[in-house]
Amino acid sequence: MSVKVFIIGGAGYIGSHMAKLAYMDGHTVIVLDNLSTGHRDAVKYGKFEFCDINNLERLQELFDLYEPDIVMHFAAFSIVGESVLDPYKYYNNNISGTLNLLKSMTDHKCNKFIFSSTAAVYGDPQYIPIDENHVKKPINPYGKSKLMVEDILEDFDLAYGMKYVTFRYFNAAGHDADGELSERHNPETHLLPLILQASRGERDSISIFGSDYNTPDGTCIRDYIHVSDLCQAHLKGLKYLIRGKKNATSRIYNLGNEKGHSVREVIESVKSITGKNFTVVSQKRRQGDPATLVASCDKAKKELSIAFKYTKLEDIIKTLV
Ligand code: UFG
Repeated sequence: MSVKVFIIGGAGYIGSHMAKLAYMDGHTVIVLDNLSTGHRDAVKYGKFEFCDINNLERLQELFDLYEPDIVMHFAAFSIVGESVLDPYKYYNNNISGTLNLLKSMTDHKCNKFIFSSTAAVYGDPQYIPIDENHVKKPINPYGKSKLMVEDILEDFDLAYGMKYVTFRYFNAAGHDADGELSERHNPETHLLPLILQASRGERDSISIFGSDYNTPDGTCIRDYIHVSDLCQAHLKGLKYLIRGKKNATSRIYNLGNEKGHSVREVIESVKSITGKNFTVVSQKRRQGDPATLVASCDKAKKELSIAFKYTKLEDIIKTLV
């Protein structure tokens, strides 16, 4: 069944991959983006509409015009460190902007929503792997802003019948296999793109933020999931909501590969795959980094029948080189 989908933030890294996949699957795609961190030339599939989610009037106008069946929301600020320094920016966009979006949806009787949440809602893990029932105690404004939206969604479901699938991402990485789309943050803060830059000689070195964590090699452990696998899961979420009609209940799922890799291990993998050597510098810990984040993704795999394609770190890295 083909539906009309709004992809909010569809000019960004994950949103642009999602727009391509939804379009390829036969859906009518309309990308809404304010291009604050996204790129106009990343919107290669579907229609583009300039829109800031803080502009309720513009949102209402676009909902009037297109009457979408479902909304996928990727338009959030997502850098943990920045959220600590500038919480207003995070609460204003990630909460107020999302509220505008949800209001436009309820005003237009659009009640299907796919929401990008994060492993950051869990805070410092009390056990590994982290499942969806783990206590939610975010330790930074970014994680808090996402958890607040999760709570808002629960209330919108009860009051207005909004049905949603929320995905809590672990570390999204990799590029579209066709090489058509990429990750282009400015400034870049994520580990894998920075290591790749070092391997290409575009930066002098790569820093390891903390070598004294309680992990086997002292560096932080993360669970990397390929962006295309992440988007496939979203597509399953979309189909679940559309097929379920009024009977689909709202769901929350982790998305990760259920495998942990240390920062040092990721660096060594890139060196071995690219055959390039580069300088690695040990720095002090970055504020707000938990030592280990590894997902249990059992629930999503079972309930949405998901099988990931890029299950090995090397497979993810190979899409980047
Ligand atoms: N790191 C380095 N050197 C760098 C960059 C990062 O050592 O130059 C380390 C970080 O300290 C961390 C790991 O690499 O231990 C991964 O860092 P990223 O910045 O790539 O990703 P984060 O784990 O901090 O955050 C990402 C997303 C968040 C999301 C989180 C959930 O950016 O939005 O994953 O796991 F909440």
